[in-house]
Amino acid sequence: MSHRARKAKGSGEMIVLGIETSCDETSVALVRDGRTILSNIVCSQTKWHKHFGGIVPEIASRKHVELIFPALDLALKEASVRLDSVSGIAVTCGPGLITSLAVGLAVAKAICAALDKPLIPVNHLEGHMLSAFLSDDKLNFPFLCLIISGGHSELVYARDLGQYEVLGRTRDDAAGEAFDKVARVLGLGFPGGPAIDRAASNGNPNAVAFPRADMGESLDFSFAGLKTAVVRFVEGYGDAHVIKDASKCTVADIAASFQEAVVDMLIQQTERAIQMTEADVLAVVGGVAANSRLRQRMGELASRYGIKLVIPPIALCTDNAAMIACAGYYRLERGLTAGLDVDAVAVWDLEDVTASHLPPRVS
Ligand code: KG4
Ligand code: ZN
Repeated sequence: MSHRARKAKGSGEMIVLGIETSCDETSVALVRDGRTILSNIVCSQTKWHKHFGGIVPEIASRKHVELIFPALDLALKEASVRLDSVSGIAVTCGPGLITSLAVGLAVAKAICAALDKPLIPVNHLEGHMLSAFLSDDKLNFPFLCLIISGGHSELVYARDLGQYEVLGRTRDDAAGEAFDKVARVLGLGFPGGPAIDRAASNGNPNAVAFPRADMGESLDFSFAGLKTAVVRFVEGYGDAHVIKDASKCTVADIAASFQEAVVDMLIQQTERAIQMTEADVLAVVGGVAANSRLRQRMGELASRYGIKLVIPPIALCTDNAAMIACAGYYRLERGLTAGLDVDAVAVWDLEDVTASHLPPRVS
């Protein structure tokens, strides 16, 4: 498709519409020139999933269908923008739940077909990375980025748009997945991250010495051992690394001790990546970047190394369409658009984004 970046008539600005439906948030946003958020509507589906203790894909896709058009109307209204004046439609094509992604992609394709607009496929992880641009308008490539979400934990050296070197990633659970599982075991509900964050503020982070994975020379992560240690501790089986009797601990102590172990592991690998890359900018993005203890410890780490730290405000850490519109703007500027036959894909690694701007073909 040969769409070129078109600026809105009579102005030098380019407004991109972003659509994000990769998981359980239905979100539509309008962003001007990749940096200014005009609107960012995020419809959380938590109340429909929480009885099940996690996301139910069937419910997520049905709710996306119900919520996407109201979210689109609201986003346009709030931004005072007409749909036919946008320069392009950026949509998350993966990674994520395929039946959820398909809803956003179908809507994006319909708008592009009806209004002859360019379709811009965006990788969800790239969206998270570029959320840093929305919180610091001076930020530019290159930067070191820690992406921590419900599905991913990756350390990436972002050289330029679409030039991503993955330095390390989780070998088992994502950090957010561990938060969610431990919160369930502690009876703190769903989503687990914010619940643990709140509970931990009243607990002692040194109450239980949960294990920290030793990854040797690698910059990978592993959270499954820690998760299992917490589960065993709560079930009263004890663990070789655990020093305190379960009966003497409060839920807040366990939450704080678990959170401290996750943060220690994230800090340790990030510090090694700073040393290795000699990066002078660190961005920490994704849902787990909303964690208050992590934000504090990352602040300390960055000042110890005298580097700039960018952590988006909480609303831009968790899933949102503004980050997709932001990534879409930079892609549109370079003509990285797609035909209407583009697929939604459950798996789409950042290495593949580096190789091609299009998601992998499904068949
Ligand atoms: O980026 P995100 O909204 O969705 C994915 O792409 O996965 O991240 C969601 C994850 C969930 O696992 C949630 O528990 C976690 O982010 N999270 C947190 C906090 N807020 C959200 N984890 C720790 N502390 C928080 N304050
Ligand atoms: Zn996400």
